[in-house]
Parts: sequence; C-alpha cells; structure tokens
Amino acid sequence: MSDNIKGKVVVITGASSGLGEATARLLSLQGASVALGARRVDCLKSLADELTRSGGKALAVTTDVTRCDLVKKLVDTAVQTFGRVDVIINNAGLMPQSPLDRLKIAEWDRMIDVNIKGVLYGIAAVLPHMKQQKSGHIINVSSVAGHKVGPGSAVYSATKHAVRALSEGLRQEVKPYNIRTTVISPGAVATELPNTVSEPDVAERIQKLYKDVAIPADSFARAVVFAMSQPENVDINEILFRPTRQEY
Ligand SMILES: NC(=O)c1ccc[n+]([C@@H]2O[C@H](COP(=O)([O-])OP(=O)(O)OC[C@H]3O[C@@H](n4cnc5c(N)ncnc54)[C@H](OP(=O)(O)O)[C@@H]3O)[C@@H](O)[C@H]2O)c1
Repeated sequence: MSDNIKGKVVVITGASSGLGEATARLLSLQGASVALGARRVDCLKSLADELTRSGGKALAVTTDVTRCDLVKKLVDTAVQTFGRVDVIINNAGLMPQSPLDRLKIAEWDRMIDVNIKGVLYGIAAVLPHMKQQKSGHIINVSSVAGHKVGPGSAVYSATKHAVRALSEGLRQEVKPYNIRTTVISPGAVATELPNTVSEPDVAERIQKLYKDVAIPADSFARAVVFAMSQPENVDINEILFRPTRQEY
C-alpha cells in the first residue's frame, strides 16, 4: 500500500470532538495538512495549536455546516492557505433519536439540516476545486443506522441512508474528474454523540449500549487512513465497521 497521506490537504467538518478530532490527529501525525471546521472554535483552535506545535500544519475555521456560505469559506480558506484541497471528510452530525410519536420536529429538522444538507454543502464546496484539479477524495460519514432501522432511529437512519444514496450518486458522477468517494459507516464509537439524545429514556438506553460496547475513536481514523492511503487508481467506496461485541 502506498503512503499517499503525507502532504495531502484534508478538510474535516465536525473536528471539535469525537471522530473528526481523532482523524485530524492521526492524519496530522502522518503528514497531512488539516483544515478543521465546527462551531466550537475554542476546541478547534486548541487542537490546531497542538498539532502545529507537534510539527504539523493545521488551521481552524468556525463553521456551522447548516450554512452553505460558511462551509465554502472553510474549504476556500484551506485552498488559500495550503494551495489545494485533496480530501474532505463530511463528518459533522448529531443523533437525537426518539420515537416518531413524540413529535420532536425541531430535532428532525436539525438532523436533516446537519446530517444531510451539511454533507451536500461540503460536496458543493469542494467539487469546483476538485474538478479543476482533476483529483480529490470525498469521504462521507454514514452509520450502521444507514444500513438498518430500529425503533426510535427512523429520522437519524433516514439521514444516514440519505448519505449513502448521495455518496453512490456522487461516485458515478465524478468519474470524469478522477475523484474518489468513500462512505464510512461506523457502529458504536465512544464520542460525545450520545449526548445529543434529549429524551431521557432513549438517552439511558443509548448510553448503556455505548458503555457496554463502544470502541475508541481512532478506529474510525484508521478506516479513513485505509481509504486515503490506497493508490490513486483504487477507490474504496464503502466501509462498514462495528465493535466486535456489537450485535445491532
Ligand atoms: N460515535 C458513533 O458511534 C457514530 C456511529 C455512526 C456514525 N457516527 C457519525 O459520526 C459523525 C461524528 O460524530 P461523533 O461520533 O464524532 O460525535 P461528536 O463527538 O458529538 O461530534 C460531532 C461533531 O459534529 C459537529 N457538529 C454538530 N453540529 C454541527 C454544525 N451545525 N456545524 C458544524 N459542526 C457541527 C460537532 O462540533 P460543534 O458542536 O463544535 O459544532 C462535533 O465536532 C456524525 O455524523 C455521526 O452521526 C458516529
């Protein structure tokens, strides 16, 4: 396997915690330049400072992925600073699961805005650059819930199924531009994600599942490295992984 990570410019949304943060650390360690986006700019800045102090190249840009203009600014800042954009990881997301009859309509809207539209805005921000470069790699984050639906997960699962549909459509369309597309579907990984569940009974069930089976966030980062580090003519389209102990 070729290295194929050193020197790449990687934009990561949702880099202030969890999977995005772990991936920023691993990619920076392996020589990528990282552009970090999320709303909590203090977390982003301290991560960028830490990576820079360790000899890496990192920048932090306040980004709300529900705003197309701000996602574009994140990508354009990466291009202005580092000269190009090789990879975007559309990772920002939230999971406020609840049964439909609780009518948590604001949470449905939020999941659709962040988990689906946020991914689309990331795609929109990089495509012009990648088409011009005739190279690039778009990595979208789905979930086991993008493959399966359970009680309470209808809307979250719908958003994650949508991410897979978008990724497959994108894969077919970007062939002429030599762009690679990967969708990664993790199982339970220990992050702040369960804190986004607002219904106490659902939160308790999910916290217990995560406590029992969740694996560390670097599991996801290694999946990203696997996809990125393939030779440029190899396109890893889907990765689905779970904790070994996870049944669902
Ligand atoms: N952990 C798991 O078990 C698991 C399993 C399957 C899929 N996933 C997916 O993995 C992705 C990352 O989640 P995580 O597990 O790392 O959870 P996390 O620790 O809660 O991280 C979520 C990230 O998304 C960012 N974010 C949320 N809303 C945003 C917005 N409007 N604009 C910009 N950034 C926003 C958060 O940053 P700010 O709050 O600073 O904006 C944070 O950096 C999500 O798409 C999630 O659905 C996770």
